Amino acid sequence: MSDELDARYKSFDELSSRSKCERPSRLITAYQPSEAAWNRFKLAATLYLCKCIPGNPLILDEAELLNTYYERQHEIKNITPNGMIVPKRHTILEYNAVVRAFAHIVDEIGINDLISSWHIPLNVRVKFSEINQENMTRHHPTEHVHSDSWAGESAESVTIMLPFFGDVERNHVCFYDPPDDFQESWLGPRPTYKDGEEIANRYKLNPFIPRKGQLVLTDFSSLHASTRKPGAGHRISIDTTFALKRNRGQGMQEVIHPWRENERLAPETLSKLGETHLFVFPDSVEQQVDSQGGFKHPTNLGVIPLLETTDPPSRACSGQ
Ligand SMILES: [Fe+2]
Repeated sequence: MSDELDARYKSFDELSSRSKCERPSRLITAYQPSEAAWNRFKLAATLYLCKCIPGNPLILDEAELLNTYYERQHEIKNITPNGMIVPKRHTILEYNAVVRAFAHIVDEIGINDLISSWHIPLNVRVKFSEINQENMTRHHPTEHVHSDSWAGESAESVTIMLPFFGDVERNHVCFYDPPDDFQESWLGPRPTYKDGEEIANRYKLNPFIPRKGQLVLTDFSSLHASTRKPGAGHRISIDTTFALKRNRGQGMQEVIHPWRENERLAPETLSKLGETHLFVFPDSVEQQVDSQGGFKHPTNLGVIPLLETTDPPSRACSGQ
């Protein structure tokens, strides 16, 4: 096995040692949140999803909410071609509550001291039963097998996701394990996910399918893709990434694509969202944000301090 893969295994073993978890592979870990944290998250997500529908109907039934999203998808202007339901100024409160509830689930597994920074904002994502063919010609469709580092995120990172509504058995993310000769040079930005196809062909599909409500962490050296089996329904999930503190040998420095440096947040700030800080989104639903070929998040996010404190303002951290 390559030294580089061995180093990643060891870092991921440490990350996975803090709480009871499932280990579908050395580079994938899955947690079951407490019932209270899971129910709190579902309520917050429901209110956010309802607020994104014109007229703000209150739809508490999961199947009805998904069907409404499907039927009214062209009216919901803040859905991107990749399925991201991006926060806008009229959803600031509800979006912050979703992230707060997600951060509570992460707090439960006790890994915050191992995180150097989060990628923000987090992505609430809908994947309808049918693939958006128009999206498949764009730079980074999540249906192509990829590492999130290929879209310009730090190669030191871990992808974290939680599927929470819909047909997650047939419409889900699948994972791929690296070969023993994995090289760090395989990670790093690529103009499109397709450009990584030659590397993806060396990986092996892992049979793991995340269950609804499972928090899944996977190292950037493993690959993943959105997939739909025949007859699949719609699915909604939340995902983002965080940079993991690692013991690296000399010459193995963290690399962050320049577009991403202002999309970082310290873990202490995420844990206290809504108490000391708030995410704000200045754009109205009519204002589209240029994602610069997929290398920038399609929002204009600000992180504002809520209270005067002696702590330095935490607009964002460098991710170092
Ligand atoms: Fe991804």
